[in-house]
Amino acid sequence: MKTKRSKAFIRINMLLKSLSKRTLLIILLTVVAIPTSYGIYRLIDRWYQATAILTEPPETVKGSVITLRLFKEEYFIDYHNMFSNAARHGLAFPEVITLGYTIQYLRSELQRVREGKMLLYAIFDNKDNVLIGTIEIRELNDIDPGQEGVWLNEKYWGGGRFQEALKLITNVYFRLHPNEKRYITYVHLWNKRSYAAHKKAGLKDVGYFYEDGKAVYYILEMPRP
Ligand SMILES: CC(C)(COP(=O)(O)OP(=O)(O)OC[C@H]1O[C@@H](n2cnc3c(N)ncnc32)[C@H](O)[C@@H]1OP(=O)(O)O)[C@@H](O)C(=O)NCCC(=O)NCCS
Repeated sequence: MKTKRSKAFIRINMLLKSLSKRTLLIILLTVVAIPTSYGIYRLIDRWYQATAILTEPPETVKGSVITLRLFKEEYFIDYHNMFSNAARHGLAFPEVITLGYTIQYLRSELQRVREGKMLLYAIFDNKDNVLIGTIEIRELNDIDPGQEGVWLNEKYWGGGRFQEALKLITNVYFRLHPNEKRYITYVHLWNKRSYAAHKKAGLKDVGYFYEDGKAVYYILEMPRP
């Protein structure tokens, strides 16, 4: 006695035999070729998005834990409220700052952006959707030591936010500067957390910056990946 399973098998067999070889080939190609081509397209698109040369910085760069947004005047107040004492300390900023000080400082930062001397992004937390810090890469210059600068409000330290923000801005920087082989950053010798964070992100030690014969900063470089 034939089981239900073997009956079904016979039916499928008969159906396949009734189809021409050409029809079978078309079905096979549809089932295999379309998903494969889509997969290849996605891979090429991802590769292109990660490596293609840029002439303008993208307005928004979305990551999985944070999003970078080009810095603008409407962020001034949120910046001031989040730029806490702990965040300022890491950058050797004054202990107390007024809103007026912040606005004046940020206006000069935006002026440098307009002059093409700096890439400056606000960092937004994806979960809370609030501004939690900023990250910048400056063109090499004689005024500021180093090129990269970053801060996050201390409530958002850890959790991979800095690591992702640095990875995303680094990608934008090298795509805007196809001939640059590296950028550098200076970290105060006493800023152990920042030093550890930058090393973890892939920056390499290249030496120290001295003031009055005394080492005061680690000099680190990010090589083009
Ligand atoms: C610098 C900054 C952006 C880094 O962000 P973060 O989220 O704290 O960085 P991460 O969590 O990725 O890395 C910090 C690492 O330092 C380690 N660390 C913390 N305190 C440390 C210390 N005293 N000594 C050594 N390592 C320390 C942490 O354990 C962590 O490493 P792990 O993830 O392997 O455990 C953030 O701390 C900050 O905004 N600081 C104030 C502003 C500042 O200093 N800016 C940089 C100026 S150069």
